[in-house]
Amino acid sequence: MHIQVISSVNEARGDDLQHKTVIVIDVLRATSTILKAIDSGCMQLIPVETVNQAKNMQRPGELLGGERFCKKIPGFDFGNSPLEYTSDRVEGKSIILTTTNGTRAIQKSSKAAHVLIGSLLNARTCARKAAALSEDVVILCAGTQDMFALEDGLCAGLIVEELLKLEADGWPRRSSAAGTDAVTIDDFGLSMLLAYRHARDNLEEALLSSSNGKRLKKIGFHEDIVYCAQVNVLEYAPIVRNGRLEAEMPLHR
Ligand code: MLT
Repeated sequence: MHIQVISSVNEARGDDLQHKTVIVIDVLRATSTILKAIDSGCMQLIPVETVNQAKNMQRPGELLGGERFCKKIPGFDFGNSPLEYTSDRVEGKSIILTTTNGTRAIQKSSKAAHVLIGSLLNARTCARKAAALSEDVVILCAGTQDMFALEDGLCAGLIVEELLKLEADGWPRRSSAAGTDAVTIDDFGLSMLLAYRHARDNLEEALLSSSNGKRLKKIGFHEDIVYCAQVNVLEYAPIVRNGRLEAEMPLHR
């Protein structure tokens, strides 16, 4: 299995993602929010790129969520704070979500064989699911406005670490297209692994010191950062099917 880490959505080329499993990461906050919504019982989540797409697609009973400039979009039911997506508000509901970078990265991955949603919250489950799918893996960091974001890179490093642990345990076993069953990692992925190992004992502080962390804290979302900094607390690896996201059953070996 080869693991490639892409630093921001702008660096991804759709055609290069074919036949791969893509893990989309937007730790602050889109993919963490998707996971929280699913954990709270959201039935279906539809990620779309633009505000107009979200509005035009909405059917009776469906809710709208998302942000522009980190703030809730006027007329929408939810912003992009994971803490808004509580079970009393989302259980059994269908939500259409649009965010500046996260849902754009999901759209950009549409040619991939499989698209998984990753964050610090579900890194281990996500790695297990990706290994079980037996394709080469691309970890796509959404970043911010086409720039790399530290929190996404640290999460990519964690997922690489989890994949390496699986390999050490003898999993995945299938040979990759390259004809080898050893895990190989590109140089950017290796850099993110080393960065994660350096920061792993204080991820919350690392997130708070990142550009997005500082920006979110300044506008009152400190608690979101604390929530998003938790590691391996959720056992979902949501997968995109026909443009929609559904929770997979918790995946145990
Ligand atoms: C995004 O998708 O750009 C982010 O999730 C922005 C945010 O934190 O609201």
